[in-house]
Amino acid sequence: MTQPADKADTFTLTDNRTGKQVILPVLKGSTGPDVIDIRKLYAETGCFTYDPGFTSTGSCESQITYIDGDEGILLHRGYAIDDLAEHATFPEVCFLLLNNHLPNAKEKEDFENILRRHSMVHEQLTRFYSGFRRDAHPMAILCGVTGALSAFYHDSTDIDDPVQRKIAAHRLIAKIPTIAAMAYKYSAGQPFMYPRNDLSYAENFLYMTFGTPCEPYKVNPVLSKAMDKIFILHADHEQNASTSTVRLAGSSGANPFACIAAGIASLWGPAHGGANEAVLNMLEEIGSVDRIPEIVRRAKDKNDNFRLMGFGHRVYKNYDPRAQVMRKTCHEVLAELGIKDEPLLDIAMELEKIALEDDYFVQKKLYPNVDFYSGIILKAMGFPTSMFTVLFALARTVGWISQWKEMIEDPQQKIGRPRQLYTGQTKRDFVPLAQRG
Ligand code: SDX
Repeated sequence: MTQPADKADTFTLTDNRTGKQVILPVLKGSTGPDVIDIRKLYAETGCFTYDPGFTSTGSCESQITYIDGDEGILLHRGYAIDDLAEHATFPEVCFLLLNNHLPNAKEKEDFENILRRHSMVHEQLTRFYSGFRRDAHPMAILCGVTGALSAFYHDSTDIDDPVQRKIAAHRLIAKIPTIAAMAYKYSAGQPFMYPRNDLSYAENFLYMTFGTPCEPYKVNPVLSKAMDKIFILHADHEQNASTSTVRLAGSSGANPFACIAAGIASLWGPAHGGANEAVLNMLEEIGSVDRIPEIVRRAKDKNDNFRLMGFGHRVYKNYDPRAQVMRKTCHEVLAELGIKDEPLLDIAMELEKIALEDDYFVQKKLYPNVDFYSGIILKAMGFPTSMFTVLFALARTVGWISQWKEMIEDPQQKIGRPRQLYTGQTKRDFVPLAQRG
C-alpha cells in the first residue's frame, strides 16, 4: 500500500451490560466513509459484530475502485467510469487497474503485445471442452476450464514472487477471451478459432466468437468499439460478491487460476452477474408493454419473490453510472445495425420509465443497474442469452486479479475467517440407536 490508512479520531462503545467502555480507532480513507477498526473488539469485549451480507462491513483496504452509491460515482484508480468508457480502451483500463496509472504510448504498446503473446491456450486445454455436453451452460464451461488452468503454468504459481504474480495476471487477462469464445463455439458445434495477433483485444474476441475457418471475418468497428466499452463498464466494482469470493479464496494462498474460477462461480448467480441473462429472459417473458403494470405489481408484492431483474443495487441508491453509458451504447449499436424497432428495448425503456415513477421503487431507491441494458446490446450483437454472464466474467477477470494481487501485496493481509452467531443445539448426550424414538 502506498499510503497506509492513518488513524483519525476514535469511537467509544459502552457495554451497558457491564458499563465497560471500549475505545476503537476510526480510520480515514482518501475519500468515502471512515471505518471503525474493530480488530480488537472480540479480545476486549468477548463479542463479535454481526452483519449478514456485510451491508456495513469493510473487508479490506483498497486503492483500486471507489463507489459513491448516493452520488452514483464510480472511479477506477481515481478516473471516472464515463471518462474511461469514452476515452480509454479496455487494455488501457486493465493496465490502469494493475499498475495504478494510465499507460504511456510505449507501456500501452508493450502491454498489448504481452496480451497478444499470451492469448493462445495450451493445446491440451482444448480437450476439457469435449467432456461437457453440448448443451452445457457456457458459464459451467468457463468455470471448469478456467479452474483447469491451475493444472498448467507451474512457472507462475509462487504467489510470493511478484514476477510470477504479474505473469499469472497477464495470462488470465489474455486467455479469458479465448476460453470464453471457445465455450461459445463448443456449444454452437463450431470449430475453435485461434486468436490473431493483428487484432485488438475486443476485435479478437469477436473474431474468435463469430468467425469461421470457411471465410474471412470482417470485424464491424462500431461493434468492436461497443464490445471494448462493455468490457470497460464491467472491469471492476469494489468488494462485490465475486470479488470478495476471489479475495477470500486467495487469502489461503490458493492457486490464482483456481481463485478466479471461484469468482466466476459467484458471479453466475442471478442476484449478481447472472442478472444480465435474467433481464433478457424477463423482458422476453413480459413480451409486450401492456404486461408491464402486472410485472411491476409482482415486483412490489411482498408475497411474491419475483424481483425486477436489472433493478436495484447494494451500493447504488442513485443511478448506476454504468447503466447510463450502457443505455447510450444500446441506442448506438441498434442504430448501427439498422435495428429500428427492437420490442425488447421498447419494453425496457417503458419499464424503466414506469418503475422510476412508482413510489415503491422511489422509496427503496431502486434504479436500473449495469445489467439492465447490456443484454439488449449483446443480443443485437448476436450473442445468445446464455453467453451474457460469460462476457461479464471475461471483463471482470482483470478486476478480480487486480484485487487478488493487491490483497497478496497487502502487509495486513491474513487468511479470511469470519465468525458467527450460533443458535443451534448446546451440548447434549449421545443417544444410542436402540434408544432413539
Ligand atoms: C451486480 O455488488 C456489486 O457491485 C454487483 C455488481 C458488480 O458490478 O459487481 O454491480 C453487479 O450484481 C448488479 C446487480 C444485479 N442484480 C439484479 O439486477 C437482480 C435484481 N436486484 C436485486 O436482487 C437486488 O436489488 C440486489 C441483489 C441487487 C441488491 O440486494 P440488497 O442490497 O440485498 O437489497 P435487498 O434485497 O435487501 O432489497 C432492499 C429492498 C427489499 O425490500 P424490503 O425487504 O426492504 O421490503 O428492495 C427490494 C427488496 O425486496 N428490492 C427489489 C429489488 N431489489 C431490491 N424489489 C423488486 N425488484 C428488485 N429488483
